[in-house]
Amino acid sequence: MAIRNIVKVGDSILTKKCRTVEKIDGRILTLLDDMAETLEKAGGVGLAAPQVGVLRRVVIIDVGDENGLIELINPEIISSSGEQTDAEGCLSYPGKFGEVTRPNVVTVRAADRDGNIREITGEGLLARAICHECDHLDGKMFMELVTRWLDDEEQ
Ligand code: NI
Repeated sequence: MAIRNIVKVGDSILTKKCRTVEKIDGRILTLLDDMAETLEKAGGVGLAAPQVGVLRRVVIIDVGDENGLIELINPEIISSSGEQTDAEGCLSYPGKFGEVTRPNVVTVRAADRDGNIREITGEGLLARAICHECDHLDGKMFMELVTRWLDDEEQ
């Protein structure tokens, strides 16, 4: 495993649409392992492949709940409901947090590293993380959705 460099805002790779993973080969497995190590070191709750410079539909999420580390390959949000507004940030935009409204419950369908299609339903922070990371795969960043930026005292 290796820690990869996290791409920061301003790099055009973050605005690009990622390609579907056709085959879960050794490169994808290494990518997943490296992303996990990178996320652990950076201390965030999620990371999308374009954030480490790879335009593939791969994300990982770990909100510190009983799900542990969730690996999503070709994720697709198949249902969402409710609404939540809370602070959100991104490892590609360090130190900045803003309020973003997201669905409160989200169900995502994705392949795991063994190629099995799974459905995961998340609520609250997990729902928020799923939305945030899936947006990255379409070149969308949370800043476009911020309704209010938090100042230093609020962070
Ligand atoms: Ni992000």
